Amino acid sequence: MSDLAGYAAQLIRGRRATRAFRPTPVPETTLHDVFSLAAAAPSNSNAQPWQVEVVSGARRDALADALVAAHRAGRTSVDFPYSEDIYAPVHQRRRAAFGATLYGALGIGPDERDKRAAYDAESLRFYGAPHVAMLFAPDTAEARLAADVGMYGQTLLLALTAHGVASCPQGLLSFYADTVREVLGISGGKLLFGISFGYADTEAPVNAITVERENLSVTTRFHR
Ligand SMILES: Cc1cc2nc3c(=O)[nH]c(=O)nc-3n(C[C@H](O)[C@H](O)[C@H](O)COP(=O)(O)O)c2cc1C
Repeated sequence: MSDLAGYAAQLIRGRRATRAFRPTPVPETTLHDVFSLAAAAPSNSNAQPWQVEVVSGARRDALADALVAAHRAGRTSVDFPYSEDIYAPVHQRRRAAFGATLYGALGIGPDERDKRAAYDAESLRFYGAPHVAMLFAPDTAEARLAADVGMYGQTLLLALTAHGVASCPQGLLSFYADTVREVLGISGGKLLFGISFGYADTEAPVNAITVERENLSVTTRFHR
């Protein structure tokens, strides 16, 4: 394996969803380097149809409070409609296996729905991360433009990893799109997901979970 392939494997496998952070902020220079690198993401015809809102400090705290308040009041608002039906049975099985691993690490049993819900609600505080990046697509966005923003998202996750910064993509944040726009003072854009980031709390058991992947032959066909 070449040096580059070795680094790539280290980078790609070194990224993992982190769900407990230290409050220490990421230095401004690192933020600049990370977001400059993430902007190198590919997109259809290089349209770069993403709008990224990076939230830190007092605004981050205000956003966390507003999200929790919106959740308590049942004020959800999605820009991309969601239904459980988008998942086929095989995908549902993988989701359930992941849920068992995550909540198991937290000591929450399969039937303890209230505890699971409480944990998810608390995750609206970005799992304690000092920063969150909100990833918006244009008002006109459908699947093609959303794919570009997804490309940006993974590139950002890897750029963060390369700089020793842990992260968690959070689709849950997109269920409160109006609240996010209101707190950030923005009127347009469709919110796809947020990425909470900062330095990992390496002592937290939840950060020690391992999430396996499906066998290659199940998800990938090689045609000749
Ligand atoms: C678009 C997207 C949305 C996600 N939403 C959430 C979320 O709302 N909450 C959460 O804890 N993790 C969320 N995750 C993280 C996934 O659970 C995680 O990536 C997956 O279980 C694989 O684990 P790994 O990232 O550690 O490899 C999301 C990931 C992606 C890509």
